[in-house]
Parts: sequence; C-alpha cells; structure tokens
Amino acid sequence: MSVVISPSILNCDFGHLADELAKISNADYTHVDIMDNHFVPNLALGLPLAEAAVKYSPAPVDAHLMIENPDHWAPIYAELGCASVTFHAEAAQAPVRLARELHKMGVRASLALRPATPIEPCVDILKEFDQILIMTVEPGFGGQSFLDSMLPKIERTRTAIRNAGLDVWIQVDGGISQATIERAAQAGANNFVAGSAVFAADDAYAEVETLRQMALAHTH
Ligand code: DX5
Ligand code: ZN
Repeated sequence: MSVVISPSILNCDFGHLADELAKISNADYTHVDIMDNHFVPNLALGLPLAEAAVKYSPAPVDAHLMIENPDHWAPIYAELGCASVTFHAEAAQAPVRLARELHKMGVRASLALRPATPIEPCVDILKEFDQILIMTVEPGFGGQSFLDSMLPKIERTRTAIRNAGLDVWIQVDGGISQATIERAAQAGANNFVAGSAVFAADDAYAEVETLRQMALAHTH
C-alpha cells in the first residue's frame, strides 16, 4: 500500500503562502481545509485561498470541505483545480451522486467521517470512493490531540476495503505527529494529514520525510 503524506496548511503563515508551500515540496498532496462556521465552529480559507494553493503548491491539492451543502460546493473546488475533494458524510445529501460527479471531472472523490460517525452504513458505497477520511479529532481546529478511540474504526474500515477487494485509501486527519503516526499506520491508514507537526517543525521538509519513513515502517 502506498504511503501518502499530506501536510495541512491550516496553521501555516498565510502572509508567505508560496514560501510555506515551497517548504513542503516533498509532500504527496497539500491538504487545504475549508470551514464555513456552520458545519464546524470555525471559518477558514475558501475559494480564493484554494485557488492560490492550486497555483503555488508543488504538490497536487487535496481539499477538505468542512462545510454544509457540499453537493453544491464540491464540484466548484474540483473545477478550480483541486486534485482530490473530500466532503463529509454528515453534510452530503447525495454522496454517491456527488462522488460520480467528481469522477466525471477527473478528480479523486473522498468521503469524511466525524469521530462519532460509524463506517458501517457506508460499507456498501465504499466502491464509489477513492478515499475515506477518518477524522482523528473533532473537525474545526488544528493542534488538537489524536483520538486513540478512532483506531478500531480505522481497522474496521481497512478490513471492509480488503474484503471488498478495493483499492481505497484511508486518510487520517487530526493530531498526526511522530508520536501517533505509527499507531495510525498499524491500524490501516495510508494517507496522513499533519498540520501543526509539519509547520511547527524547524525543518518542514525533513519532518515530512521523517513521518513518511515512520509510516512506511508500520504499514502492512
Ligand atoms: C482539523 C483539520 C485538520 C488540521 C489538522 O479540523 O481538518 O486538517 O489542520 O491539524 P493538526 O495536524 O495540527 O491536528
Ligand atoms: Zn483537514
């Protein structure tokens, strides 16, 4: 299974966005968080910033939409050049239709689950997606602690994907650092979002590489 490292720019220095993005040129994806202060109690980024990330990021952009009405907004983020678009199961009216629409636009479709949302009701629609994002914190803010209680959900999701013979990535987002990435990889995640761990490091590029090696050593 491929290991994918996706630094989140939520807590980067937006005054120097292009420089911050250049620091993580070894990332597989640049993770861009979009928040509307309705789905989550915070407001972050939006279309102009996603557009800037698409323009300046050396890596393809992975948009994480923590917003109401993704059925309307997700295709707009695809249209502006994001390579992968994640929307939340709790917010989408028609997740299968939306995934198919994203695929028609040539974009990876990803379904996110908040900590209290189980994977089981989604097992039959796994095949419609390229990725499942299992939130390992309550979405809304960077710098929170990793929820170990999400490890069984990651394991059950990996088992369901294997049983169905699919090649669906499992992304984890929230509290990923050198202290937690091994446990997440061991449980079956292969795409790791890390915000504060990367941008608070003295050397963001080296941190991405360290996280990658740690995940690789615990992927099975
Ligand atoms: C939180 C966002 C994350 C956030 C992660 O709701 O979805 O992508 O930036 O930040 P850290 O890695 O600091 O937990
Ligand atoms: Zn995110």
